[in-house]
This record gives sequence, C-alpha cells and structure tokens, in this order.
Amino acid sequence: MSAAKVLVLNGANLDRLDLRDSTIYGTMNFQQLSDFIAISASALGFEAEVRQSNSESEIITWLHEAADNRNPVIFNPAAFTHYSYAIRDAAAMLTAPLIEVHLSNPLAREEFRHTSVISGVSHGTIGGFGPDSYRLALIAMKELI
Ligand code: DQA
Repeated sequence: MSAAKVLVLNGANLDRLDLRDSTIYGTMNFQQLSDFIAISASALGFEAEVRQSNSESEIITWLHEAADNRNPVIFNPAAFTHYSYAIRDAAAMLTAPLIEVHLSNPLAREEFRHTSVISGVSHGTIGGFGPDSYRLALIAMKELI
C-alpha cells in the first residue's frame, strides 16, 4: 500500500527563513525545513508534499485542490494566519483534517499575532517548537486519520 499523502502548506516569507530572525525562527533554511518534514513524514508512514507560496491566491487554489482530493493538510499560514478571511473560507471547505502549525509561539509575541483566523477551522494548533511543530503535527495527524 502506498503512503498516505499529507500536504504541508506554508505561507508568506517562509521561503526566506534563513534571512529572518534566527532567535525566533531558528537556523534552518526552507529547504532544510522541507527535508526535515519529508523525513519526519516518511518515518510515520506518510508522504509529505511540502509547498510554500507568498500568494494568497495560490494557497487558496492549493486548499481547493486538497479539498477535492480529500488530502489532510498541515498548514503554517505565516502572516496570513492573522488576517486572511479568504484563506480561512477555503480552509473551512477541506474534507480531511487540517492542523495549523507555527515555528514560533505567536501567543508569546506581538499582539497582532495573538489572533488566528485559521484556528477556528482547524482541528488544532501546534506552535512554539520550531521545526518540531511540524513533526508533532504529523504525529497528531497519524492519530486523526
Ligand atoms: C509564523 C508566525 C507568524 O506570526 C509569522 O507571520 C510568520 C511565521 C511561525 O511559523 O512562527 O511568518 O507562522
């Protein structure tokens, strides 16, 4: 039997992790993070398809695709977390579980990061563990599906 596919979607500016504040986001660049996610997924019997976009519209298209294909989704919406109702509405149409993840703990940061418009349509949220947030989300996903 082939490994269950999980889409791991990432939002704005995560492609430039190596240029962001390493005291907040750690030292992995996006390629290293993607490799870490892929290895963690295959250890759990998943095939992870990791994607990143700075475009709200592209992410919405990917969420529609995930809904049509009944793919579970692990999603770091990055700054879109805090204001994108369009992404929230697309996420609400998913047909398999959605887990929201963050490298940092947004609740321990600036006030504008304390709001997530995505949390209300996700199964749960994992944040604050660096790259391990994704691994923990994969473990949680394994229990869900
Ligand atoms: C983030 C937290 C967001 O507030 C921020 O805009 C990001 C990354 C995280 O992974 O910690 O870009 O989602």
